[in-house]
Amino acid sequence: MADPDWYYDELRQVGVDFADAGEVAAYDRNQGRDPAEDCALVAALGVGPSDLVIDVGCGTGQFVREAAKAARAVIALDVSPAMLDYARGQAAVAGLGNIDFRHGGFLSYRHEGAPADIVTSKFALHHLPDFWKAVALSRIHGWLRPGGTFFLRDVVFSFGGSDCARGVEDWIARVAQPEGEGFTRADFATHVREEHSSFRWILEGLIERAGFRIQRLDCADEAYADFRCVRL
Ligand SMILES: C[S@@+](CC[C@H](N)C(=O)[O-])C[C@H]1O[C@@H](n2cnc3c(N)ncnc32)[C@H](O)[C@@H]1O
Repeated sequence: MADPDWYYDELRQVGVDFADAGEVAAYDRNQGRDPAEDCALVAALGVGPSDLVIDVGCGTGQFVREAAKAARAVIALDVSPAMLDYARGQAAVAGLGNIDFRHGGFLSYRHEGAPADIVTSKFALHHLPDFWKAVALSRIHGWLRPGGTFFLRDVVFSFGGSDCARGVEDWIARVAQPEGEGFTRADFATHVREEHSSFRWILEGLIERAGFRIQRLDCADEAYADFRCVRL
Protein backbone atom coordinates (compact mmCIF):
# COMPACT_ATOMS: atom_id res chain seq x y z
CA MET A 1 0.00 0.00 0.00
CA ALA A 2 1.30 3.47 -0.89
CA ASP A 3 2.24 5.85 1.93
CA PRO A 4 -0.17 8.78 2.52
CA ASP A 5 0.72 12.19 1.09
CA TRP A 6 1.78 13.48 4.54
CA TYR A 7 4.34 10.71 5.09
CA TYR A 8 7.97 11.79 5.49
CA ASP A 9 10.25 11.05 2.54
CA GLU A 10 13.34 9.74 4.29
CA LEU A 11 15.04 8.95 0.98
CA ARG A 12 15.42 12.69 0.45
CA GLN A 13 18.46 13.34 2.62
CA VAL A 14 18.82 16.30 4.93
CA GLY A 15 22.04 17.80 6.27
CA VAL A 16 25.14 16.02 5.07
CA ASP A 17 24.57 14.49 1.65
CA PHE A 18 25.93 10.95 1.26
CA ALA A 19 24.75 10.71 -2.35
CA ASP A 20 28.10 10.35 -4.05
CA ALA A 21 31.06 8.02 -3.69
CA GLY A 22 33.52 10.84 -2.91
CA GLU A 23 31.41 12.00 0.06
CA VAL A 24 31.22 8.42 1.34
CA ALA A 25 34.99 7.85 1.08
CA ALA A 26 35.56 11.19 2.89
CA TYR A 27 33.14 10.12 5.63
CA ASP A 28 35.00 6.84 6.06
CA ARG A 29 38.36 8.66 6.28
CA ASN A 30 37.06 11.30 8.67
CA GLN A 31 35.32 8.99 11.09
CA GLY A 32 38.70 7.29 11.72
CA ARG A 33 37.09 4.78 14.04
CA ASP A 34 38.90 1.75 15.33
CA PRO A 35 37.05 -1.52 14.41
CA ALA A 36 37.93 -2.69 17.95
CA GLU A 37 35.31 -0.23 19.22
CA ASP A 38 32.58 -1.92 17.15
CA CYS A 39 33.92 -5.35 18.09
CA ALA A 40 33.58 -4.37 21.78
CA LEU A 41 30.03 -3.14 21.18
CA VAL A 42 29.10 -6.46 19.52
CA ALA A 43 30.42 -8.29 22.59
CA ALA A 44 28.70 -5.90 25.02
CA LEU A 45 25.37 -6.46 23.24
CA GLY A 46 25.89 -10.22 23.53
CA VAL A 47 25.41 -10.85 19.80
CA GLY A 48 25.40 -14.65 19.34
CA PRO A 49 25.25 -17.24 16.55
CA SER A 50 21.45 -17.54 16.55
CA ASP A 51 20.80 -13.80 16.40
CA LEU A 52 19.26 -11.74 13.63
CA VAL A 53 20.58 -8.16 13.89
CA ILE A 54 19.14 -5.16 12.03
CA ASP A 55 21.35 -2.07 11.80
CA VAL A 56 19.63 1.14 10.67
CA GLY A 57 21.81 3.69 8.88
CA CYS A 58 24.73 1.30 8.43
CA GLY A 59 26.87 3.89 6.63
CA THR A 60 30.16 2.43 5.45
CA GLY A 61 29.33 -0.80 7.29
CA GLN A 62 32.07 -1.05 9.89
CA PHE A 63 29.68 -2.07 12.67
CA VAL A 64 27.71 -4.55 10.54
CA ARG A 65 30.93 -6.30 9.49
CA GLU A 66 31.83 -6.87 13.15
CA ALA A 67 28.25 -7.90 13.99
CA ALA A 68 28.16 -10.38 11.08
CA LYS A 69 31.19 -12.22 12.50
CA ALA A 70 29.14 -13.07 15.61
CA ALA A 71 25.52 -13.18 14.39
CA ARG A 72 23.53 -15.65 12.29
CA ALA A 73 22.46 -12.87 9.94
CA VAL A 74 22.53 -9.10 9.68
CA ILE A 75 20.17 -6.80 7.76
CA ALA A 76 21.95 -3.53 7.01
CA LEU A 77 19.74 -0.59 6.05
CA ASP A 78 20.69 2.75 4.59
CA VAL A 79 18.93 5.39 2.51
CA SER A 80 22.11 6.26 0.61
CA PRO A 81 22.81 3.96 -2.37
CA ALA A 82 26.42 5.22 -2.39
CA MET A 83 26.91 4.18 1.26
CA LEU A 84 25.38 0.77 0.52
CA ASP A 85 27.67 0.23 -2.50
CA TYR A 86 30.71 1.07 -0.40
CA ALA A 87 29.58 -1.12 2.54
CA ARG A 88 28.74 -4.05 0.20
CA GLY A 89 32.20 -3.84 -1.34
CA GLN A 90 33.90 -3.86 2.07
CA ALA A 91 31.81 -6.85 3.22
CA ALA A 92 32.76 -8.77 0.06
CA VAL A 93 36.45 -8.05 0.63
CA ALA A 94 36.04 -9.36 4.21
CA GLY A 95 34.32 -12.52 2.85
CA LEU A 96 31.16 -11.95 4.89
CA GLY A 97 28.16 -13.55 3.18
CA ASN A 98 25.54 -13.13 5.92
CA ILE A 99 24.83 -9.40 5.53
CA ASP A 100 21.72 -8.44 3.58
CA PHE A 101 22.16 -4.80 2.50
CA ARG A 102 18.85 -3.05 1.76
CA HIS A 103 17.99 0.38 0.46
CA GLY A 104 15.59 1.70 3.10
CA GLY A 105 15.49 3.15 6.53
CA PHE A 106 13.62 3.83 9.75
CA LEU A 107 10.41 4.84 7.99
CA SER A 108 10.44 2.76 4.81
CA TYR A 109 11.91 -0.68 5.63
CA ARG A 110 9.25 -3.35 6.01
CA HIS A 111 10.40 -6.30 8.07
CA GLU A 112 9.14 -9.74 7.10
CA GLY A 113 9.84 -13.14 8.59
CA ALA A 114 11.01 -13.92 12.11
CA PRO A 115 11.40 -10.89 14.35
CA ALA A 116 14.86 -9.54 15.00
CA ASP A 117 16.75 -10.24 18.21
CA ILE A 118 18.74 -7.01 18.18
CA VAL A 119 18.27 -3.66 16.44
CA THR A 120 21.11 -1.14 16.46
CA SER A 121 21.46 2.36 15.11
CA LYS A 122 24.45 4.62 15.43
CA PHE A 123 24.53 8.30 14.46
CA ALA A 124 21.55 8.03 12.10
CA LEU A 125 18.32 8.78 14.02
CA HIS A 126 19.24 12.49 14.18
CA HIS A 127 18.41 12.67 10.45
CA LEU A 128 14.73 12.61 11.44
CA PRO A 129 12.75 15.40 13.16
CA ASP A 130 11.37 14.41 16.58
CA PHE A 131 7.84 13.57 15.35
CA TRP A 132 9.38 11.09 12.90
CA LYS A 133 11.81 9.78 15.50
CA ALA A 134 8.74 8.70 17.46
CA VAL A 135 7.35 6.94 14.38
CA ALA A 136 10.74 5.33 13.71
CA LEU A 137 11.04 4.03 17.27
CA SER A 138 7.60 2.44 17.20
CA ARG A 139 8.44 0.81 13.85
CA ILE A 140 11.68 -0.60 15.38
CA HIS A 141 9.56 -1.92 18.27
CA GLY A 142 7.52 -3.82 15.67
CA TRP A 143 10.61 -5.44 14.12
CA LEU A 144 11.91 -6.83 17.44
CA ARG A 145 10.85 -9.88 19.45
CA PRO A 146 9.65 -9.22 23.01
CA GLY A 147 12.76 -9.10 25.21
CA GLY A 148 14.91 -8.16 22.23
CA THR A 149 17.57 -5.46 22.48
CA PHE A 150 17.53 -2.01 20.95
CA PHE A 151 20.80 -0.04 21.03
CA LEU A 152 20.87 3.61 20.01
CA ARG A 153 23.97 5.82 19.85
CA ASP A 154 23.71 9.38 18.60
CA VAL A 155 24.51 13.02 19.10
CA VAL A 156 22.08 13.79 21.92
CA PHE A 157 22.37 16.90 24.09
CA SER A 158 22.24 16.64 27.88
CA PHE A 159 22.56 20.41 28.37
CA GLY A 160 19.41 22.55 28.51
CA GLY A 161 17.98 24.90 25.90
CA SER A 162 19.10 27.99 27.83
CA ASP A 163 22.66 26.65 27.90
CA CYS A 164 22.76 25.59 24.24
CA ALA A 165 25.31 28.19 23.01
CA ARG A 166 27.84 27.08 25.60
CA GLY A 167 27.02 23.38 25.14
CA VAL A 168 27.36 23.45 21.36
CA GLU A 169 30.51 25.60 21.37
CA ASP A 170 32.16 23.37 24.01
CA TRP A 171 31.25 20.28 21.97
CA ILE A 172 32.65 21.68 18.74
CA ALA A 173 35.83 22.81 20.51
CA ARG A 174 36.29 19.25 21.89
CA VAL A 175 35.76 17.37 18.65
CA ALA A 176 36.50 19.54 15.58
CA GLN A 177 39.70 18.76 13.68
CA PRO A 178 41.75 20.88 11.29
CA GLU A 179 40.80 20.54 7.59
CA GLY A 180 42.05 17.25 6.17
CA GLU A 181 42.42 15.56 9.57
CA GLY A 182 38.82 14.62 10.32
CA PHE A 183 35.43 16.29 10.82
CA THR A 184 35.82 20.08 10.96
CA ARG A 185 34.00 22.89 12.75
CA ALA A 186 31.95 23.38 9.55
CA ASP A 187 30.82 19.73 9.67
CA PHE A 188 29.62 20.01 13.28
CA ALA A 189 28.00 23.39 12.63
CA THR A 190 26.07 21.85 9.71
CA HIS A 191 24.99 19.03 11.99
CA VAL A 192 23.51 21.38 14.58
CA ARG A 193 22.00 23.81 12.06
CA GLU A 194 20.50 21.39 9.52
CA GLU A 195 20.03 18.01 11.16
CA HIS A 196 17.81 17.07 14.09
CA SER A 197 19.86 16.12 17.13
CA SER A 198 17.63 16.54 20.15
CA PHE A 199 17.75 16.79 23.93
CA ARG A 200 18.29 13.70 26.09
CA TRP A 201 15.00 14.13 27.97
CA ILE A 202 13.12 14.12 24.67
CA LEU A 203 14.86 10.94 23.47
CA GLU A 204 14.20 9.22 26.80
CA GLY A 205 10.48 9.97 26.53
CA LEU A 206 10.28 8.94 22.88
CA ILE A 207 12.05 5.63 23.56
CA GLU A 208 9.92 4.74 26.58
CA ARG A 209 6.66 5.71 24.89
CA ALA A 210 7.55 3.49 21.92
CA GLY A 211 7.48 0.47 24.27
CA PHE A 212 11.05 0.07 25.46
CA ARG A 213 12.61 0.03 28.91
CA ILE A 214 15.94 1.85 29.04
CA GLN A 215 18.29 -0.57 30.77
CA ARG A 216 21.38 1.57 30.53
CA LEU A 217 22.05 5.16 29.53
CA ASP A 218 25.58 6.42 28.99
CA CYS A 219 25.73 10.18 28.56
CA ALA A 220 29.06 10.92 30.23
CA ASP A 221 29.74 13.33 27.35
CA GLU A 222 26.96 15.94 27.29
CA ALA A 223 26.80 15.81 23.47
CA TYR A 224 26.38 12.04 23.02
CA ALA A 225 24.23 9.26 24.42
CA ASP A 226 24.13 5.48 24.26
CA PHE A 227 20.75 3.95 25.08
CA ARG A 228 20.58 0.22 25.66
CA CYS A 229 16.94 -0.81 25.78
CA VAL A 230 14.78 -3.88 26.10
CA ARG A 231 11.70 -4.29 23.92
CA LEU A 232 8.66 -4.79 26.20
C1 LIG B 1 26.57 9.75 10.18
S1 LIG B 1 26.26 8.32 9.22
C2 LIG B 1 26.52 7.01 10.43
C3 LIG B 1 26.86 5.70 9.77
C4 LIG B 1 27.20 4.56 10.70
N1 LIG B 1 26.06 4.09 11.47
C5 LIG B 1 28.34 4.94 11.61
O1 LIG B 1 28.15 4.92 12.84
O2 LIG B 1 29.41 5.25 11.09
C6 LIG B 1 24.51 8.35 9.06
C7 LIG B 1 23.98 7.33 8.08
O3 LIG B 1 22.56 7.27 8.22
C8 LIG B 1 22.00 7.22 6.93
N2 LIG B 1 20.61 7.70 7.03
C9 LIG B 1 20.15 8.97 6.97
N3 LIG B 1 18.81 8.99 7.13
C10 LIG B 1 18.42 7.70 7.29
C11 LIG B 1 17.15 7.05 7.48
N4 LIG B 1 16.03 7.75 7.53
N5 LIG B 1 17.13 5.71 7.61
C12 LIG B 1 18.28 5.00 7.56
N6 LIG B 1 19.50 5.54 7.35
C13 LIG B 1 19.57 6.87 7.24
C14 LIG B 1 22.93 8.05 6.06
O4 LIG B 1 22.81 7.74 4.69
C15 LIG B 1 24.28 7.65 6.63
O5 LIG B 1 24.82 6.53 6.01
